[in-house]
Amino acid sequence: MLQGAVGRIEDLDWECVDADTQYLTHSIHRYSSKFIPQIGRQAIQLLTQPGDLVLDPYCGSGTVLLECSLSQRRSIGIDLNPVAVLISKVKTTPVGRARLQDFVQRMEARLIPGTGCGHSIEEMMGMASRDPRCSDSWYRKWFRDDVLLELIAIDREIAAERDAECRDIARVAFSDILRRCSNAHQGYPNVMLDKNRGMAPLPAPEFTRRLREISRSVGELDSALAGAPISDVIWGRAESIALADCSVDAVITHPPYIGSVPYAEYGLLSLVWLGHDPKRLDEELTGGKRHSADVVERFEAGLRGMLRESLRVLKPGAFLFMVLGDPTVRGDRVDLRRMATRNASSLGFGLAAEHHRQGINRRANLMGRESLLFFRKDPASRQVSLHHA
Ligand SMILES: C[S@@+](CC[C@H](N)C(=O)[O-])C[C@H]1O[C@@H](n2cnc3c(N)ncnc32)[C@H](O)[C@@H]1O
Repeated sequence: MLQGAVGRIEDLDWECVDADTQYLTHSIHRYSSKFIPQIGRQAIQLLTQPGDLVLDPYCGSGTVLLECSLSQRRSIGIDLNPVAVLISKVKTTPVGRARLQDFVQRMEARLIPGTGCGHSIEEMMGMASRDPRCSDSWYRKWFRDDVLLELIAIDREIAAERDAECRDIARVAFSDILRRCSNAHQGYPNVMLDKNRGMAPLPAPEFTRRLREISRSVGELDSALAGAPISDVIWGRAESIALADCSVDAVITHPPYIGSVPYAEYGLLSLVWLGHDPKRLDEELTGGKRHSADVVERFEAGLRGMLRESLRVLKPGAFLFMVLGDPTVRGDRVDLRRMATRNASSLGFGLAAEHHRQGINRRANLMGRESLLFFRKDPASRQVSLHHA
């Protein structure tokens, strides 16, 4: 029976070369190294039934979580990066169109001169200029003075918003424009100063445009997810999961790439503006502190912790699916497939199936070939069929 399942896995298109990866709220933020939604969806439909509970312990921007709701599966996402948690929540939470429209109009009225019924732009700039961030060297390094004033004014307007879900949508829009409005180089994911940076655009028009776009996508969730289960998104660690033993029907995830994708560094601007400490996050992330000598060993310990917790919370006979690339760390290629398989096997998982994809449709693809691994809890148990519903 398992042989049949492996055959079916091989029959599916895992390259997804022409796949539209930007539908609904998948497009709301440029989070690094996002899952291709179709890969998550195929794994969800192979391994679970409608109503089942899926866990993504490294949920990032919530790709698997949205696909779970669209496939009528319940889901829980965990991530240590607070920006990931924010994006995942917005990505998976429907908000009624009328409420969104009202909110966008309210924000525009406050931020676009001439449309306003709230503070005048001069009043807002006056308030912003008394904000301590205005004279803070970190903010002044990354943003031109006029840009900084406007960002502070927008940030204060967002903080004053009472509707928590709309406030989160605005925070995602704000986070998504920061890089473009900053003095950082626009061609690399690393946040580094660009001495030849031309005029960065002023944030208010960028923000209101992004807010409108994101709100439109969130508005589409209302009908797309009508009656569907809504994901639970948790700020926490994959190595310590607050779920009962044998409570989860599948783990579907995409672990970090050691130091190849340093989330705290890439997310520096958003993390600081949203009130978080990037250095501390980097110390805590699995694969963080990428320049340290023991980064691979610490990554392996974190990955093993996630595998141990996944084994505990999975029901007997259930599957853990993960996609892994082989990152380059301090000049050496690390065989993550071998590392994951060694740890999963020693903990008691069986490798039920595996497949490889070339990853040819990815922009700036450093990872190249990726492994798709299907591990199974209690491989000797009798419930072995993989169904495609
Ligand atoms: C490859 S990304 C996942 C991307 C996700 N599939 C998506 O589509 O956006 C890996 C994620 O693991 C998170 N992470 C790293 N270490 C973690 C840990 N110990 N516990 C929970 N999340 C962690 C990172 O913040 C990052 O969001």
